[in-house]
Amino acid sequence: MKLLVTGGAGYVGSVCAAHLAEAGHEVVVLDDLSTGHRDAVPDGARFVEGNLAEIAGTVLGEGGFDGVLHFAARSLVGESVVHPELYWDNNVVAALRLLEAMREHDVPRIVFSSTAATYGEAEQVPILESSPTRPTNPYGASKLAIDMMLTSYATAYGLAATSLRYFNVAGAHGRYGERHTVETHLIPIVLQVASGHRESVAIYGDDWPTPDGTCVRDYIHVEDLAEAHALALANAAPGRHSIYNLGSGQGFSVKEVVEACREVTGHPIPSAVAPRRAGDPAVLIASSAAAAAALGWQPTRTDIRTIVGDAWRFTQDRLPV
Ligand code: UFG
Repeated sequence: MKLLVTGGAGYVGSVCAAHLAEAGHEVVVLDDLSTGHRDAVPDGARFVEGNLAEIAGTVLGEGGFDGVLHFAARSLVGESVVHPELYWDNNVVAALRLLEAMREHDVPRIVFSSTAATYGEAEQVPILESSPTRPTNPYGASKLAIDMMLTSYATAYGLAATSLRYFNVAGAHGRYGERHTVETHLIPIVLQVASGHRESVAIYGDDWPTPDGTCVRDYIHVEDLAEAHALALANAAPGRHSIYNLGSGQGFSVKEVVEACREVTGHPIPSAVAPRRAGDPAVLIASSAAAAAALGWQPTRTDIRTIVGDAWRFTQDRLPV
């Protein structure tokens, strides 16, 4: 298939673009490099630099596209609270421009990078796709708005659409991995301590209602995620919008993640308990039963040491210790 990958110079986008190119698809990456990296665009993909909202029509106008994988977005929860306009504009408005360009140029299918943040505080775990969607920040709200947009386009225009709601993405795929300029995610921060680029890690609260008092998350390997995108693309059907949670179905606490990082790196990784971070839910664990049933998807890299180990290899390659 000929595929447009928006945000294909970012973390999850570059890994998925690499998978699709390796599987023989013709891949065009569109990215404005605001947070992505030019050298993360996979070999074998064509790169177009530019603003999605402005040039989606021009890029798709060259014709022949079979689908779009849409990753380009702002994705920092804290930033979304302070500057919501960036999220409504870069996420929601840009997605609308993209869908309109797809409609104009007869592009039949889209796989969209949605998030567990659409659910907000979960009433029960594991979280099902039928759980209430009550996002607690503009980031989650912007992704939920796009999910709703996709439902309406599937109904009105016969678009084949799939939203994949990721839980905590981690790990790396060879030279493609996580390298945000502003890093807020647990595993990369802990590995910065292990590689000597940070003194210690702050554990945001140890008085949560969880077994060891620290927050529990469902970590999903980015390669498992990439496989889900390929399956979603193959299973898309005209006029249908499907939504699937993607997680490993198991939870690891912050303390367990730090301990796994100590094992993998051999570094003592000093840590200190800090106040809770605003907006953090205590426990987020996915039910991915729907993705298993409909797509035949099964995550295979679910051991936290495997996930951390791949991220650590990537970190060492980039920041030699
Ligand atoms: N944490 C720490 N110390 C740190 C960083 C994180 O203790 O220095 C804790 C957080 O409080 C949280 C856990 O580690 O309990 C995981 O935090 P991350 O920032 O790595 O990930 P989140 O669970 O906050 O965020 C993820 C995705 C978001 C998505 C969100 C849905 O990365 O994009 O899940 O709730 F919006």
